[in-house]
Amino acid sequence: MSKVTVIGAGKYGSTTTQRIAEWDIVDEVVITDIVEGLPQGLALDMNQSRPLLGYRTKVVGTNDYSDTANSDVVVITAGLPRRPGMSRMDLIEVNAKIVKEVTEEIVRYSPEAVIIVVTNPLDQMTTLAADVSGFPKNRVLGQAGMLDSARFAHFIAEAADVDILDVTAVTLGSHGDTMVPVPSLCKVGEKHLADALDAETIDQLVERTRNGGAEIVAYLKTGSAYYAPSAAAASMVRAIIEDSAEAMPVCAWMEGQYGIEGVYLGVLAKLGRNGVNEVAEVDLTESEIAALGQAAVAVAEKVADLEAIEF
Ligand code: APR
Repeated sequence: MSKVTVIGAGKYGSTTTQRIAEWDIVDEVVITDIVEGLPQGLALDMNQSRPLLGYRTKVVGTNDYSDTANSDVVVITAGLPRRPGMSRMDLIEVNAKIVKEVTEEIVRYSPEAVIIVVTNPLDQMTTLAADVSGFPKNRVLGQAGMLDSARFAHFIAEAADVDILDVTAVTLGSHGDTMVPVPSLCKVGEKHLADALDAETIDQLVERTRNGGAEIVAYLKTGSAYYAPSAAAASMVRAIIEDSAEAMPVCAWMEGQYGIEGVYLGVLAKLGRNGVNEVAEVDLTESEIAALGQAAVAVAEKVADLEAIEF
């Protein structure tokens, strides 16, 4: 039996659960939260959509971690989302305590699982989940690059006035200020991005992508984005469950690729049943590699903030 658990039944967790269930790729999706009744109500509602949409995956809503036992993949969405004016860093202390607590439950009930972290600030929370779990680093990864790349693709398609499905966009680095867009890997149809849009426009789109989360937070006021984020997390779950070996931009542990090691960083990685099968070292320009190095330094500095937290 294949089983995925989503921790946190808020906006991100519930939409991620819904997408995985509707794709019909696992037997069961367990959704859990500290709020009593919330996951149960969402699960009942989702399960009643099965005859209408024609899928079989069953959603189990619970407040009890024993129901999550032996999950193949666990997605951590538990935590506070950003409010307007709040940076991801403002969230660190409160979300670190939550991520530590839920990771301990994952270790207890699903010691063989792959953990996907989406709780912000992403780079620190992924590092924390890896440290607390003690799992091999390939079994702990974070979602950021899939979302940033999708946002970048959307903005490129709008600016170039082309079919969204003809656009390939890649962003690496960290989730936030040191996001590294990779124009050399971006394509509009058969054209390189630089041949489809002028440099000034590309710079504007990069900046908008970098602030993509904050732009939505400013509109919503009471929470952060979840449709594209859940599509990103669910796509990673699917690649792992289907053992697809698809290369995706994810937050993965670096072991010397591009000369970087000992830090979680957004890179292209092939995903499969063991999480990260391999970090794919693709041809990047010198300036892209330098930007990746700077992002790694910035992430390492931010991760050091975790040490100041008293758990
Ligand atoms: N265990 C389980 N669930 C928890 C815990 C915990 N210890 N602490 C909080 N939660 C739950 C909350 O009860 C809430 O239902 O996490 C859920 C968070 O949901 P939302 O407030 O809707 O936030 P969401 O938009 O889903 O974002 C979750 O993802 O993108 C990031 O920055 C975002 O860190 C945030 C996370």
